[in-house]
Amino acid sequence: MTNILCIGAGFVGGPTMAVIAQQCPEHRVVVVDVNAEKIAAWQSNELPIYEPGLDELVRATRGRNLFFTTEIERSIAEADIIFVSVNTPTKTFGQGAGKAADLQYWEATARRIAECATTPKIVVEKSTLPVRTAEAMERILSSNDKGLEFDVISNPEFMAEGTAVRDMQHPDRVLVGGRPTPSGQRAVQKIVDIFAHWVPQERILTTNLWSAELAKLTANAFLAQRVSSINAIAGLCEMTGADVTEVAHAIGRDSRIGPRFLAASIGFGGSCFEKDILNLVYLCESHGLPEVAAYWEQVVAMNAYQQTRFVSKMITAMFNTVANKRIALFGAAFKAHTSDTRQSPALAVCRRLLQERARVVLSDPHALASARAALGDLADDVTFEPDPRVAARGAHAIAVLTEWPEFAALDYGALHRSMVHPAFIFDGRNVLDHHALHALGFNVYAVGRPPLTHFS
Ligand code: NAD
Ligand code: UGA
Repeated sequence: MTNILCIGAGFVGGPTMAVIAQQCPEHRVVVVDVNAEKIAAWQSNELPIYEPGLDELVRATRGRNLFFTTEIERSIAEADIIFVSVNTPTKTFGQGAGKAADLQYWEATARRIAECATTPKIVVEKSTLPVRTAEAMERILSSNDKGLEFDVISNPEFMAEGTAVRDMQHPDRVLVGGRPTPSGQRAVQKIVDIFAHWVPQERILTTNLWSAELAKLTANAFLAQRVSSINAIAGLCEMTGADVTEVAHAIGRDSRIGPRFLAASIGFGGSCFEKDILNLVYLCESHGLPEVAAYWEQVVAMNAYQQTRFVSKMITAMFNTVANKRIALFGAAFKAHTSDTRQSPALAVCRRLLQERARVVLSDPHALASARAALGDLADDVTFEPDPRVAARGAHAIAVLTEWPEFAALDYGALHRSMVHPAFIFDGRNVLDHHALHALGFNVYAVGRPPLTHFS
């Protein structure tokens, strides 16, 4: 039996460890966090995050070989392998503010490990970190006065929210980076052995430490770049009569380009794309590569533009004012199948509409509590309504901001009858049947398609 510990019981720590516990019944897996409320939620029937399949997984493993606790010191002392999956947000103060990764939680964890360890350990970077962070981790750990040896491994996580459990059970690849020394390679092999319980060998890639760290930032930058690229083309489609869905389909059939991550939208959100690209930008600037930094920064700028452009389109379409108009926003989560609203473009749209003094009604099947918390004081100006049919009643417009299947399944004829006319619909995810909506009487505005209106 190996004692596996994960520090950080968030979106990554909880689900990853639940999957390891499921796939490696002979190992003992413990998850700790400084946030006692979160740990209490992991121990309860109301898990702190919503992920399809997660409830069942936790129910099957918790108390068997998966444990959640706030006893950090004891858990560190007992562990053989420690995964660190604490948050690494964008720094909001001082040097690098707005771009660099804030490493204070990560460093506090490294120091805690050095302080509480009584035996040698493998420490695994699961958090997304700037390239060469492992070096700093090694220095902090090796400065312990107990003569203990630590091996630091990079094992970045590639799962996406909403499909976390499936992504971890069937990953495209698992990446394990380590030092080329005998001890480093033994540590790499121990981590590979864990994943080999369920991941085919050819999908487990081993690299040097810096490649593993940088591959994670690069993967997110490339994925976000695809979204910004198709959104840039969406703007041109709206001006020219081309349809972005057809353009995306046509280019995606080229096997060199591929079909995924080409859905035009109101922009990408989530806790990582923007933060990781800005981190990459900061790294490039720090390494004297300003042109490379500017290249990647444009991916983020295009994303912000896409959100602004969407709201401007709403205002222009609705006779240049939305003040005092009831607007039903369908979706608060940054994507479907998650309760997460971090960096959600839906909330960016919501904030802008509030600035325009619209009466915003927000509906989402799983993310209303998170949206309320994220909006802070602005939440007082928003009506939170779980039923989208009630949200649309008496509204001038509906804007679809998250691609929850529930929204596409609604009876739009009935919604149209309950709304103020002329009724508008803005499909920020291109998930509705626009011609059918137009036939029902809606004025329809999509992303990357010319509008369908009843105005001459
Ligand atoms: P999160 O905020 O959901 O969870 C992080 C947890 O770490 C929090 O519960 C926090 O209380 C805890 N923590 C902070 N400092 C601590 C300390 N000193 N001791 C113990 N616990 C501490 O974050 P997340 O979304 O799980 O992301 C974690 C890391 O994984 C980040 O680096 C992120 O970039 C990366 N990542 C996230 C995703 C994702 O989809 N969310 C995917 C891949 C990688
Ligand atoms: C993303 C990556 O996909 C994961 O591999 C990575 O591990 C993770 O970031 C991370 O490091 O945190 P995630 O942000 O959870 O995962 O979700 P995605 O499916 O990547 O979606 C990100 C955003 O892009 C969402 O707002 C989504 O709606 C948007 N998107 C995605 C589009 O607008 N169009 C697309 O075609 C695809």
